[in-house]
Amino acid sequence: MNNVIEFMTCAHRHCDESFIAAESFVSQQQWQQAQNSWDAFSSDLEHHLQQEENVLFPAFEAATGMTMGPTQVMRGEHVQMRQLVQQMSQALESKNQQAYLGLSETLMILMQQHNMKEEQMLYPMTQNNLPDPAQTIKAMEELPKE
Ligand SMILES: [Fe+2]
Ligand SMILES: [Fe+2]
Repeated sequence: MNNVIEFMTCAHRHCDESFIAAESFVSQQQWQQAQNSWDAFSSDLEHHLQQEENVLFPAFEAATGMTMGPTQVMRGEHVQMRQLVQQMSQALESKNQQAYLGLSETLMILMQQHNMKEEQMLYPMTQNNLPDPAQTIKAMEELPKE
């Protein structure tokens, strides 16, 4: 794999699947399945965010010299996403369907807009500016999952 856009877009789609599954299980009050899908989503999302923050964004910043631009906006949105994930974990813990579904709607919109900015702007700029995209992808693949 040597294309940052493909590699990262694939991770977005993968996260979307378990996110949608969790929402659907909560709608049907199937709490155990909801928890399983939610655990998969939140762990995959956190790993993806760390791949960006610890590997991809620094590589972008080093290659372009832009340290206060798009990567700072993306980091700020990651903070918001993590807050929502935490609130949703609590809603799920207390089987609060209404709270969960409300937060889920908010996170869905935030993630859609965030992912679109990355896929249409940040990832292409990164792919075009990195000296060795394959090496950066390898470093992301090797980042341990917590
Ligand atoms: Fe991101
Ligand atoms: Fe992303």
